[in-house]
Amino acid sequence: MNKMKKNDTRITRMLNVEYPLLCGGLYGLSESKLVSSICNAGGYAFLSSSHLNSKELLKKEIRKTRALTDKPFGVNLSLLKESKSNLVNEYIDAVIEENIPVVETAGNNPEDYIKKLKENGIKVLHKVVSPRHALKAEKFGADAIILVGYSAGGHPGMDEVGLFVNLVETLNCVQVPVIAAGGICSGRGMAAAMSAGAEAVLMGTAFSVTKESHYHENIKNKIIESSSTDTVVIFKSIRNAFRCVRNKMTEKILELEENNASPEELLVHLKNFDAKESYLAGDAENIFIPAGQAIGLIDSIKSCRELIENTMEEYKACI
Ligand SMILES: Cc1cc2nc3c(=O)[nH]c(=O)nc-3n(C[C@H](O)[C@H](O)[C@H](O)COP(=O)(O)O)c2cc1C
Repeated sequence: MNKMKKNDTRITRMLNVEYPLLCGGLYGLSESKLVSSICNAGGYAFLSSSHLNSKELLKKEIRKTRALTDKPFGVNLSLLKESKSNLVNEYIDAVIEENIPVVETAGNNPEDYIKKLKENGIKVLHKVVSPRHALKAEKFGADAIILVGYSAGGHPGMDEVGLFVNLVETLNCVQVPVIAAGGICSGRGMAAAMSAGAEAVLMGTAFSVTKESHYHENIKNKIIESSSTDTVVIFKSIRNAFRCVRNKMTEKILELEENNASPEELLVHLKNFDAKESYLAGDAENIFIPAGQAIGLIDSIKSCRELIENTMEEYKACI
């Protein structure tokens, strides 16, 4: 296989990116520094919008990112029920006004927003946790599907289906390109997903512990010292599965869930959680650290360029 064939897929052409290697939106972390470092190293990344709380702040972050890279990048739009829909509309206006070419939507059906995005020439990569959601998103006009398996950090869905069953089922039922995610953090995982038919891979956990991520050192160290069995899925009782590193906070939530706590009693912990502030502070125990089972494979803190180059080298060697 020549170099072009390894890296040239419908996704690399759609995104105008060198490598089929993406970083998903990372709440409170995907800001200008992380996103521009990934794009400058040949990958593609999405600015997180939902922690910014206003259209103007998103526009400012977009401009800050543009000052750090001349490569294209996208914006992540969280459509989770708890996201305020008026804010989603504001973020979409910011994306249109700033000529952002691609958005990653996640958390809910994109139907209400996709028409406006597409009318403005914006490509929509919709993130799903099951083939049935992939089919729906394709029907509504998504340009590509990001298929997430149950190992993923953040919201891996309620079906508890691992990446490869989910991926193959999805590849068998949609025509649009599929990007694989959830447990991939190296060239070996990338090669497996690309060999199955994915046209790119997306990683979250691996980028969350890079030098350019603004996690406090204590949080990065906790992640790299953890093994693949050190994550837990919380909030299953309210059908909002959330995979995080096991710590005092997740133990507290699991105990509340065992004692049948109400949604309000559980969600208050999320509402009171200031991600950006907590990630800069040094307490790795009393906060939510979203991360996937890939933490067991991550044992050092690399720069985004090192992570991307190592991954691409290993990927090429594998295939
Ligand atoms: C720290 C962290 C924060 C995340 N925040 C978001 C988010 O705000 N929006 C979103 O769509 N996905 C979010 N995710 C999910 C990632 O974009 C991606 O889908 C997932 O991390 C892929 O699986 P992996 O962690 O096994 O690589 C987050 C993941 C992590 C690890």
